[in-house]
Amino acid sequence: MEFIGSHILSVSQFDRTDVDTVFAVADKMLPYAARESITRVLEGAILGNMFFEPSTRTRVSFGCAWNLLGGEVRETSEVKASALVKGESLYDTARVLSGYSDIIVMRHQLAGSVEEFAAASRVPVINGGDGANEHPSQALLDLYTIKKEMIAQRKTVDGLRIALVGDLKYGRAVHSLCRLLSLYQDIHFSLISPPELRLPENYIVDIKRQGHQVQESADLHSGIAHADILYVTRTQEERFPSKEEAERYRGLFRLNQTIYTEYCEPNTVIMHPLPRDSRGDAMELDDDLNENPNLAIFRQTDNGLVIRMALFALILDVTSQIEQISRPVKWYIGGRCHLS
Ligand code: CP
Repeated sequence: MEFIGSHILSVSQFDRTDVDTVFAVADKMLPYAARESITRVLEGAILGNMFFEPSTRTRVSFGCAWNLLGGEVRETSEVKASALVKGESLYDTARVLSGYSDIIVMRHQLAGSVEEFAAASRVPVINGGDGANEHPSQALLDLYTIKKEMIAQRKTVDGLRIALVGDLKYGRAVHSLCRLLSLYQDIHFSLISPPELRLPENYIVDIKRQGHQVQESADLHSGIAHADILYVTRTQEERFPSKEEAERYRGLFRLNQTIYTEYCEPNTVIMHPLPRDSRGDAMELDDDLNENPNLAIFRQTDNGLVIRMALFALILDVTSQIEQISRPVKWYIGGRCHLS
């Protein structure tokens, strides 16, 4: 794909070479994300960080990624703080905001909304999550994490055995990750969900058409055996037709250390796009796994920084300038993150 000046709306835009390009640039960003060095390559540039739906890590890490490249951030963090509540259209909103920004990251509760916004934007737009549809930067950081975790175990993404657990119907991170993993060879997908929350049929058809194996189950214990990666998800309560319906699935699948020890292979890596629901009656990923060395959830969030820096650098065509405009930091460097 052509990165320069492009919107990033779906992982369908990427082939394996494109993914490798993003990962190679992300690797170059490691000293900056770890705050060992500073680059100001985007000095003077403005990110419009437009989140019309709640977010912690996507919003803040896109903002930090931009700051780490030297740019300034302007942001909206909820619909009610924008003129959308007064009836302004996505078209008008995009025309206005793209006059103030060099690039826009946008999240919205409706599937297809970011594409509609991008069509009216005068600057590149990155999809920060549109309803139950896609979350491309999450899938890229997940795949980057999977690749690193597999390299550490002398394995490859080709031949990966992944178990995806929970709300596979509404989970946009799962949708994007399944599509991205399908670019690789011989992936075994174990899909564990209640029948009503199974992965939509079009994703399953696409996965199978690309030669991968799919096994569906509603049983957590049998489904998680023999997995390299266990990708647990939250019930996306906000996407259900009613709160009562969502509550039927609360706490249905709960992974804790006892279940992990009994049913998983010893080095199975545990991932989750986060947020995990840590309320007592939900707890799909128990706190008692926090010290498990195979819990990769905070390695995922740290990796989000370099992936998002790489997307900005590629879209704005500054990758070759990063190291030229670079200097070491002057403050104490503590053990802030897992990046290496
Ligand atoms: N993974 C993810 O999208 O998290 P946030 O909702 O906090 O951005």
